[in-house]
Amino acid sequence: MFVSLLLLLLVCSAQSSHFYGTVMTYYPKNTNSDGSLTVVLRYKLTFHLCSSSDFWDCPSQNCGNETSLVLNVVDQESRGEWCQREGIMTRRVPSYSQFQLELTGGNWIDHNKNGIILWKAVTGVELRNRSDIGQANTSPQTTILAALRVRSNCRRDFHLLDFDPDGDEVRCRYANSSLSECFQCTTPSVLSLSESFILSFSPTSSVNEGAYIVQMVMEDFPRQNISLTQNGGLTVNSAISKIPVQFVVRVDPVVPSCTEGLYLPRFLTPTPANKAQLYAPVNQTLSISVNAEATVSTTFELLFSGPHNIIKSSLGAGRFLLRWTPSQEEDGESHPICFRPINHKVSHLIG
Ligand SMILES: *[C@@H]1O[C@H](CO)[C@@H](O)[C@H](O)[C@H]1NC(C)=O
Ligand SMILES: *[C@@H]1O[C@H](CO)[C@@H](O)[C@H](O)[C@H]1NC(C)=O
Ligand SMILES: *[C@@H]1O[C@H](CO)[C@@H](O)[C@H](O)[C@H]1NC(C)=O
Ligand SMILES: *[C@@H]1O[C@H](CO)[C@@H](O)[C@H](O)[C@H]1NC(C)=O
Ligand SMILES: *[C@@H]1O[C@H](CO)[C@@H](O)[C@H](O)[C@H]1NC(C)=O
Repeated sequence: MFVSLLLLLLVCSAQSSHFYGTVMTYYPKNTNSDGSLTVVLRYKLTFHLCSSSDFWDCPSQNCGNETSLVLNVVDQESRGEWCQREGIMTRRVPSYSQFQLELTGGNWIDHNKNGIILWKAVTGVELRNRSDIGQANTSPQTTILAALRVRSNCRRDFHLLDFDPDGDEVRCRYANSSLSECFQCTTPSVLSLSESFILSFSPTSSVNEGAYIVQMVMEDFPRQNISLTQNGGLTVNSAISKIPVQFVVRVDPVVPSCTEGLYLPRFLTPTPANKAQLYAPVNQTLSISVNAEATVSTTFELLFSGPHNIIKSSLGAGRFLLRWTPSQEEDGESHPICFRPINHKVSHLIG
């Protein structure tokens, strides 16, 4: 274990620090005339600085050829805490491939409460023909803000986003060291995770304030037994693909009131409901209006995660607009978007 860690750090040219997590999803695209398949993998990569980078490795050497990779900024926290980028990686793979991509390196953000230094994120891609849908599998789709914030005295449930384009059942769990999904797998002591993808925080003592690293895995399960075909069939009723979902949760100092709309922001109409699905035709701009208030505070920032070509604008008084124009390449796909208003003034006053 120790030797492989040393090797890994030598191989990883990017010695980036202040990692804030990653998420990766994939969509199979067209079958090419030579029988190979094109797959598009999208990932979020969040660091303290936008300039930090790293690359996904293919330990099993069977991930086909990367034909393009573009990395663009999604959103940045205004005080410079973090920068999230979206990578869009296109690969040409032998038809019906099955492989893993891994992102490894160091270091996670300093002084995190679970004491984690090295990161590892693993995506399990399954592209064999599914008997139920007659085509390759698409992974569950999700995204995550780099840093979720809670107050140490306020209960909070995060209903994290999950959607499966094939209609599979999506489950999530913490990454597991026996399955080599993380190097240091200590789970965040102040959070509890339910299989239905709710991450709950209960009020805690101020000694537990600080940053926690969350390393989760999301998997899609067929709702009935299916077979995966390459040359001959294989029956599965277990997870088809798996994606990493890694981020930071910050437990901030107490606020005088946990009622949303006072110190903590709350959403007002016409903000779309959690898990709302909106449809946007190719080349036509979708506008999402977000309205939030926190009467005891004045300055707001809206943080979001989603496709990098979303344009965010602030209209003042807690009103924001997110605009996105899907391209021809995204036709028929589903893309997750999440956003959260945060308030700096209160955290300065209290903190
Ligand atoms: C990947 O590239 C190599 C070398 O150019 C080529 O031989 C191979 O067929 C390519 N694989 C796919 C799946 O396109
Ligand atoms: C996948 O399987 C279905 C039947 O289950 C078949 O109709 C379809 O042609 C297969 N797809 C490919 C690309 O071979
Ligand atoms: C991790 O995976 C192993 C092997 O599948 C399993 O036996 C173990 O229960 C898992 N651990 C946790 C914490 O889920
Ligand atoms: C699905 O497969 C499992 C194990 O392979 C088997 O026990 C179960 O009966 C199967 N279910 C159906 C509905 O065929
Ligand atoms: C979208 O715009 C692109 C570039 O302008 C164009 O090539 C494509 O045909 C358009 N697609 C649709 C469905 O309007």
